Amino acid sequence: MTSNLTYEHKFVRGTEKTTLLLLHGTGGDVDSMLSLGRMISRGSSLLSPRGKVLENGMPRFFRRFGEGVFDIEDLKNRSGELADFVEKASETYDFDVNAVIAVGYSNGANIGASIILLQLFRFAGAILFRPMVPLIPNELSNLDKMVVFISAGAFDQIVPRGEPERLARLLGDAGAEVTLSWENSTHALTQSELEKAANWLLQNLGS
Ligand code: MLT
Repeated sequence: MTSNLTYEHKFVRGTEKTTLLLLHGTGGDVDSMLSLGRMISRGSSLLSPRGKVLENGMPRFFRRFGEGVFDIEDLKNRSGELADFVEKASETYDFDVNAVIAVGYSNGANIGASIILLQLFRFAGAILFRPMVPLIPNELSNLDKMVVFISAGAFDQIVPRGEPERLARLLGDAGAEVTLSWENSTHALTQSELEKAANWLLQNLGS
């Protein structure tokens, strides 16, 4: 861990100016999202932190009281801490802080959405696999021109069916350009949605 960076992480330098912030799901680690990141973008740098909360030994990015019941205070604090980590990492590794794309799965997608809704960091875009609405911000966010790709599973056993739509609406009402894409899948990711995410990224952010 580089000394002023408070998350255990991996950084892989790419050939393009974009950086993917890779946010793993519950039980993930710094390595879990690296190949997914490379599949989505061949040239972006990859920044992959490990969540600091342990739930039965499994890393997460924030605490929860039960499935889908989040500790909102903890979520807010950790969203701020993670946003701060990304800022500092951009200085340490000298990547463009205006060209960071959040790529999260499940718990990682939820903290990514929380950072966006609380406007703690301005991502160039976000790819959220299997997200829920993590919290409702006190103030309406201003997300003008932010592009967001949400990939939801029609048979997801963890994320209730209405949640991806609610999140898409919340982000869209705040000005983001949201693409909501449904897979015939459970909570598990499919090859086809990774390809869709890669195409979306290329079309929307040229990476
Ligand atoms: C969460 O806790 O963020 C969601 O329930 C997804 C997950 O199981 O990690």
